Amino acid sequence: MDRKLIQISDLHLFSDPEAILKNVSTWKSFERVISVIEETHADFDAMIITGDLAHDERLETYVRLKHRLGPLDSRVWLVPGNHDHRPSMAETFSAQVIPERETINFQCHLDGWQLLGLDSQLTGETAGAIDDAQLRWLGERLNSSRDIPTLVFLHHPPVAVGSPWLDAIGLTNAAEFRKIVEGAGQIRGIFFGHIHQEFQAELGPIACYATPSTGVQFKPDSDTLVVDARPPGFRVITLGDDTIETHVVRVPID
Ligand SMILES: [Fe+2]
Repeated sequence: MDRKLIQISDLHLFSDPEAILKNVSTWKSFERVISVIEETHADFDAMIITGDLAHDERLETYVRLKHRLGPLDSRVWLVPGNHDHRPSMAETFSAQVIPERETINFQCHLDGWQLLGLDSQLTGETAGAIDDAQLRWLGERLNSSRDIPTLVFLHHPPVAVGSPWLDAIGLTNAAEFRKIVEGAGQIRGIFFGHIHQEFQAELGPIACYATPSTGVQFKPDSDTLVVDARPPGFRVITLGDDTIETHVVRVPID
């Protein structure tokens, strides 16, 4: 039986529900996206949030988000982005966080599939990196699950994305990450956010996908930050026995 995942990313929420970021009410936009997911994909098996949940790093923002997710929360997995406040995020979503790790990681098994979440936040920096402890953790997980098809989720792109200003703030140790994932034969996809646009590329034999923000969009192929008028969106990932199908759904905001 097929399994369905939803990826959302870069919510950039505030403790003030009226706050505006680059002319977008990020709460209103997020509310609309999550409502469409509830209306059209309520049967999803897992929802992965790939970072930048809060824009203002405030505990109240995470608490407000958890409250809005309500019963969906039990199917939600998450990793932080550069904007997140790791302690507040870990405190609020304690059920999703692997205890006694300094970074926010997840490992989820779903009907013959494995989902792994990596924390690429370099605290205080816009660019990201995966620290040595996580690289070891990832390598061990992959070594002990050679026959299990696996998806990897993180915030920062491990590949060039065609916009110089975004490539300058990507995953700074992508080469080390690539060595581990390319050496493992079971990864069927790598999913990230950070770039606020839909994007697809190959990392060796592995397909990589970026998902639009639930709020502000960035124009592809730009030298500097240019806001894109395209509506926000989310990604649907359908898991077969050993293959995936994925597409982005855009959600017009009135
Ligand atoms: Fe972001």
